[in-house]
Amino acid sequence: MEFKNLLIESCDGITTVTINRPQALNALNSDVVRELECALYELDLDAAVKVVILTGAGEKAFVAGADIKEMAEISSFEAHDFARKGQRLMLLINKMRKPVIAAVNGYALGGGLELALACDFIYASEKAKFGFPEVGLGVIPGFGGTQNLARLIGPNRANELVLSGRIITAAKACEWGIVNELFPPEELMAKALGTAREIAAKGPLGVAYAKDAIVNGLSMTKEDGFRYEASLFGVLFATGDQREGMGAFVEKRTADFKGK
Ligand code: CAA
Repeated sequence: MEFKNLLIESCDGITTVTINRPQALNALNSDVVRELECALYELDLDAAVKVVILTGAGEKAFVAGADIKEMAEISSFEAHDFARKGQRLMLLINKMRKPVIAAVNGYALGGGLELALACDFIYASEKAKFGFPEVGLGVIPGFGGTQNLARLIGPNRANELVLSGRIITAAKACEWGIVNELFPPEELMAKALGTAREIAAKGPLGVAYAKDAIVNGLSMTKEDGFRYEASLFGVLFATGDQREGMGAFVEKRTADFKGK
């Protein structure tokens, strides 16, 4: 499939999706949201893809938000529809079997921060900047940001960031637990690829089920989450990956997982 706003590169089971609208700091207009949804849906179905990395083109921005020029004149109905489509994209990332790593190379603002927060974890350049400027535009985050941020860092810090509309440094975002780790800009992609390779070498079914347990367990009581984890643990014992992984340990060799 051809995409106007995305660059897609795959190597050794790792696919990098680069949002490519640098002239608009990679802002998410409705075309980009649709293309991302189509691309990620296809990548999740592709057995050759083990891990996806999302990043932005150029040195300045990961994604500087939803496209303000496109939103400036839309109706209330269209705004609701746009928010639901953006949220569908964020939920798709949660539901994907493949892990998705955000490599935040610059501004991650508004919808851009929401996109990064929907990923399984965030690595960032030391020069990246984070924030939710929406209240300064007279609106609120609409692609799941209020929900995902408060769940990740708690309501107090989420309130401070969202209500002030302040833009924070990468160091502060890391201290607050939004970002897992910071790297010099020129090392960011290599570090993201390194971690993606580590994940890609593991049993694909184990990786998919571990993501499923963490993402879905968050909306359960602890007891239901434990029960859900035990079910997934049990199901994995019906797979070749479990036999291969444990067999390889016993035989002191490297496992050769087939994802079956
Ligand atoms: N939408 C549309 N265009 C954008 C954009 C956005 N979110 N962010 C940047 N651009 C465009 C600018 O309009 C500019 O285009 P022109 O050259 O055609 O004027 C180009 O990208 C470069 O941007 P700047 O000249 O502004 O660059 P800067 O270095 O001076 O400032 C910035 C960088 C601080 C990120 C600034 O661009 C900015 O504040 N951008 C908007 C950030 C924002 O408010 N994001 C939230 C959007 S609302 C949202 O996301 C809602 C939601 O939750 C769904």
